[in-house]
Amino acid sequence: MAETFGFFQAWLKNPLRVAAIAPSGRALASLITSETSHDTGPVIELGPGTGAFTRALIARGVRQEDLALIEFGSEFAAALQFHYPRARTLCMDAARLRTVDLFDGRSAGAVVSGLPLLSMPPRKVIAILIGAFRKMEPDGALYQFTYGPRCPVPPRLLDHLGLEAERIGGAFANLPPAAVYRIRRTHPPLSTLSRFSSRQHVLVE
Ligand SMILES: C[S@@+](CC[C@H](N)C(=O)[O-])C[C@H]1O[C@@H](n2cnc3c(N)ncnc32)[C@H](O)[C@@H]1O
Repeated sequence: MAETFGFFQAWLKNPLRVAAIAPSGRALASLITSETSHDTGPVIELGPGTGAFTRALIARGVRQEDLALIEFGSEFAAALQFHYPRARTLCMDAARLRTVDLFDGRSAGAVVSGLPLLSMPPRKVIAILIGAFRKMEPDGALYQFTYGPRCPVPPRLLDHLGLEAERIGGAFANLPPAAVYRIRRTHPPLSTLSRFSSRQHVLVE
């Protein structure tokens, strides 16, 4: 209850940044973390707020030490630091992600995002996506939720960045109902390809 009230107060102070009047519910937290586990390795969470997805990630076996929590709101960041002392909490704009080293040079296996991408200018969304994919393994995925009817990153922008999005499900019990998209690279980077013949490429690990 106190968590919901604190979230609501943060929304009153900054409705555009917080972009929801209450934290996400369990159904959405379960859906957006459904493809992550201990084996995912390091996970970056963007816009954790009061930690609805953080709790679900830890429940799925992601270690606190393997979590980087990137939160712009100082009121949320201070509480996250207190509740998850072994995670790396950074109070910063997610658009600056590529400027920080999060896991001593190790790449993340996934990014889970609660950011309000729909209320951000395209330049910021581009900076966030470029930063997120630079920090991830070639086959890493970014999970993004939305209250809207389609992926919050428009197809033209995805295409431009060499990314593709797939809807992995809907959380109808959430208030308001939400959907989750998995965003991945369309092609593996060229460094992971070796030329097999003039007409065929083979993926090498
Ligand atoms: C819709 S709330 C989601 C909170 C939480 N993930 C949840 O689902 O309950 C959006 C969160 O993103 C944070 N946020 C907004 N813009 C941000 C930015 N540029 N960088 C980092 N965090 C940001 C807000 O402070 C807020 O905590």
